[in-house]
Amino acid sequence: MVDKSYGEVPRSGYSRSRTLQEAASEEIPEAASSNYRGSTAYDPYPMIYMQEADGATLTDVDGNEYVDFHCGVSAMITGHCPDRQVEAVRNQVKRGSYFATSVEAEVEAARLVNDLVPGAERTKFASTGTEAVMTAIKLARAYTGKERILKFEGMYHGHTDYALVNVHPHPENLGTRRNPTKIPEANGVPTATMDTVEAIPWNDPSILEERLERQGDEIAAVITEGVMSNSGLLWPRDGYLRELRRLTERHDVLLILDEVVTGFRMAIDGAQGYFDLEPDLATFGKGLANGYPAAALTGTAPVMEFIETAPDKATFMGTFSGNPLVLAATRANLELLQEIGQSGYEDLFSKGEQFCAGIRDIAADAGEDIFVPEFAGFTAIHFVEPDTHPEQWQDWRDIGGKPDADRYEKFAAEMIGQGYFFPPKTGRINLMHAHTDEHIDGVLEAAKAAMRSLDD
Ligand SMILES: Cc1ncc(COP(=O)(O)O)c(C=O)c1O
Repeated sequence: MVDKSYGEVPRSGYSRSRTLQEAASEEIPEAASSNYRGSTAYDPYPMIYMQEADGATLTDVDGNEYVDFHCGVSAMITGHCPDRQVEAVRNQVKRGSYFATSVEAEVEAARLVNDLVPGAERTKFASTGTEAVMTAIKLARAYTGKERILKFEGMYHGHTDYALVNVHPHPENLGTRRNPTKIPEANGVPTATMDTVEAIPWNDPSILEERLERQGDEIAAVITEGVMSNSGLLWPRDGYLRELRRLTERHDVLLILDEVVTGFRMAIDGAQGYFDLEPDLATFGKGLANGYPAAALTGTAPVMEFIETAPDKATFMGTFSGNPLVLAATRANLELLQEIGQSGYEDLFSKGEQFCAGIRDIAADAGEDIFVPEFAGFTAIHFVEPDTHPEQWQDWRDIGGKPDADRYEKFAAEMIGQGYFFPPKTGRINLMHAHTDEHIDGVLEAAKAAMRSLDD
């Protein structure tokens, strides 16, 4: 464990976190329930154990305070502990946590989703984005009577077997663009499952068209995000999503839009609102309930109504699907977002654009070559070699392995050391409605110092 002090605050104060991590490593593989935040995730710090949060601020078990730009891996959208949501959950806790029946909040939360999300005529709730995607895929297969799913290289859609194909393999191992090699993200994905998943490069309409011409009568659905959120934030080329919609319709293939990250973050009406796209199905999680384990599957009435208790229809279960506590949190969050409204999102974007422009200027002054993608409710910082032309990157094969991950990690460690909680490994840097102009000024000041210290 490195004891170097990062940033201006002496970071000797991690003793409680360190003790907890040591204890956890005796009980929990990799010391945490998700690999994502496992034992080495915060190197050179120990795993940081947070204790409480308020607005845009986090406090860890050692009393260190941070302004949060990790935002619960994009789950926090309004901010931590908004009064209305805390009150709604507290009221429900007192009344009961689960009854094996529906509750009033389920109807109201579904109505809010259907009102806010353009492509949502019907909604069902689940607990995680993974479950929502799993069900979307199953529903698409049942509805179309076809078995294959087409996804895109570099896109992460949760941790089911179907989704763990060609997520982040080394681009050199991917084979040709038109006939990529299939590579599981980790061990344990059955070959038989891999056989039903196709994965092609994103942002290339001719590859998509050729694949749908060739296999369209076997493909139940194409699944995509509106922007590539888990691979450094690449944007769709002009017209690509429109072409994707046109081609899927032509081949009777459903379009599933994964909005687990973009939903209620990229815009109040999600990526589908932002890009004026009409998917058949869409999946939500993260920002839907602002930090509570809620997810949703939405879609057009004919497709969603195919979920029915009958052997020739699609199924959707889950003890905790539509849990009352989580629905109370969801309803309160959506009401709050409705109040925040379009002008609140414009404000969030203006802060985000200010952040991006500020970081670009700071890097230029420090002589660093970086790529900060256009803000989408979140952004990223990629340290790159000179003359890399990242503005031309359009798919995973372009970006995979290119940014200097070590340099970003050093930068993030410096930011965390100065009390700005950044994703410790390259990932989404998020904004929430709770961020103020002062937070943006503060984070840019800290970034200046962090950028200057990179070669120390
Ligand atoms: C785009 C996308 N889809 C699906 C998921 C899975 O969601 P969950 O982690 O809630 O299962 C994630 C998680 O990060 C995601 O980023």
